[in-house]
Amino acid sequence: MYFSVVVLLCVVKLINSQILWFQPEQIHLAYGKSVYDITVTWSTLNDTKASVVEYGIGGMILKEFGTCKFFDDGGYKGYGQYIHSVKLTGLTPNSIYVYHCGSSLGWSPQFWFKSSPDHKNWQPQFAIYGDMGNENAQSLARLQEETQRGFYDAILHVGDFAYDMDSEYGQVGDEFMKQIESIAGYVPYMTCPGNHEERYNFSNYLERFNMPEGNTSFMYSFDIGPLHIISISTEVYYFPYYGIKSIVFQYEWLENDLIKANLPENREKHPWIIVMGHRPMYCSSTDKDDCTHHETITRVGIPFLHIFGLEKLLYDYGVDVEIWAHEHIYQRLWPIYNYKVYNGSYENPYVNPGAPVHIITGSAGCKEGHDEFNMTRPEWSAFQSKDYGYTRLKAYNNTHLYFEQVSDDKGGMVIDSLWIIKNSHKPYRYSNMDWAAFDSVRLKNMNNFT
Ligand SMILES: *[C@@H]1O[C@H](CO)[C@@H](O)[C@H](O)[C@H]1NC(C)=O
Ligand SMILES: *[C@@H]1O[C@H](CO)[C@@H](O)[C@H](O)[C@H]1NC(C)=O
Ligand SMILES: *[C@@H]1O[C@H](CO)[C@@H](O)[C@H](O)[C@H]1NC(C)=O
Ligand SMILES: *[C@@H]1O[C@H](CO)[C@@H](O)[C@H](O)[C@H]1NC(C)=O
Ligand SMILES: *[C@@H]1O[C@H](CO)[C@@H](O)[C@H](O)[C@H]1NC(C)=O
Ligand SMILES: *[C@@H]1O[C@H](CO)[C@@H](O)[C@H](O)[C@H]1NC(C)=O
Ligand SMILES: [Fe+2]
Repeated sequence: MYFSVVVLLCVVKLINSQILWFQPEQIHLAYGKSVYDITVTWSTLNDTKASVVEYGIGGMILKEFGTCKFFDDGGYKGYGQYIHSVKLTGLTPNSIYVYHCGSSLGWSPQFWFKSSPDHKNWQPQFAIYGDMGNENAQSLARLQEETQRGFYDAILHVGDFAYDMDSEYGQVGDEFMKQIESIAGYVPYMTCPGNHEERYNFSNYLERFNMPEGNTSFMYSFDIGPLHIISISTEVYYFPYYGIKSIVFQYEWLENDLIKANLPENREKHPWIIVMGHRPMYCSSTDKDDCTHHETITRVGIPFLHIFGLEKLLYDYGVDVEIWAHEHIYQRLWPIYNYKVYNGSYENPYVNPGAPVHIITGSAGCKEGHDEFNMTRPEWSAFQSKDYGYTRLKAYNNTHLYFEQVSDDKGGMVIDSLWIIKNSHKPYRYSNMDWAAFDSVRLKNMNNFT
């Protein structure tokens, strides 16, 4: 008896060392330098000495090599993993590719992805959500199903993953990455950091996700169809150990990106500018988070000095939509600037709105449950729901953008929908003529692109 247990243990050990330790897991995709490149990322427990993706249209006839790094988040004595990444470039547009990843020591199952179309009529579609955990990830099954049925070109996960990726020596992060593999193995999984990623200097976020080159996965942007999507870290405002330097650095990076996005040749091709970040500037929850305060730090900038606030910056450069999460709710706002509603018109508030449209979508599902709404609904709140669910976006063309909110609690029912229609995209100041508030530098920048 004792002998056979020992033999069994040895066999298990042998199996572990030969297969599991070199077996690719946590496979996920992201866009590379542009949406025409794909980055494949995965983990192995031991060093496989090679990082390979075999891929192609109709068969795995191509081979691409990548890089590998050892990741140990500092949470445990020596526990770590090897994170591999391979960049696929020169893809034929609008084609179904099959791929697997690994090395001669072990391969993943076969996955597929669709390369981005290069024609002007591409109407990319997204699922968007924040705050999805390892436990109670209520929207996950529906998202897995819809992704593999080809509903989406990409996912935008607006911060707060796993709850938390660093927990249990990183094993909660590993499990979460395995849970989303049936989404992220098929479409680019684009992210921004949330407060739950803060531990060990955001290392679990920065190391596990491989976002396009911007300045690290904290801030980057990419063009996709008629959209220019910018991802930022609201967390630089909330974790003061980073100091004001990171706030200034991101602010300047963001302003530069917005200047470039507003150059006529760029804004003509990608007129919709969408910013995503984790913590909202406005919300009407009752949890006393910063967005329940009048002077949200991301909105007005650092206390007393009121510099590096994002609301004015995004307004000045004509950002169309701002997507946030963090509150475990869904909330859609009327077009808003500085607590004033700028409806396009009373009948059609979102036709040529006079300010950015904010959407909060942090209700994908996590172990912390829902947040509650204040009994008095502010006049700037257009729609609110605490159902678990997620947002869909379809970018029709340069003038029409469509959002809808899916309730998982109501079996996938669409509980809210929204067309934003804009005949032209430009800094709002031009319509509102609040020139006095302009600083001369920004005015000069704007003159350069009008
Ligand atoms: C895998 O890595 C562990 C931890 O570093 C090590 O103890 C083990 O010997 C390695 N196994 C193989 C088969 O290389
Ligand atoms: C955390 O990250 C910042 C910015 O990258 C760096 O300056 C700092 O040294 C890091 N701190 C630790 C404890 O790793
Ligand atoms: C990111 O910012 C750092 C710090 O300023 C800079 O040294 C680095 O070149 C930047 N990287 C990219 C890709 O812009
Ligand atoms: C609800 O909103 C009102 C009016 O804005 C505010 O005075 C009150 O403090 C809020 N209540 C909670 C519980 O946040
Ligand atoms: C904005 O439009 C909506 C829908 O017509 C309306 O309910 C709301 O009162 C309007 N707000 C303002 C400030 O005009
Ligand atoms: C943009 O899409 C909307 C919605 O499908 C459509 O009504 C409109 O005609 C389109 N505009 C152009 C210029 O194709
Ligand atoms: Fe959060």
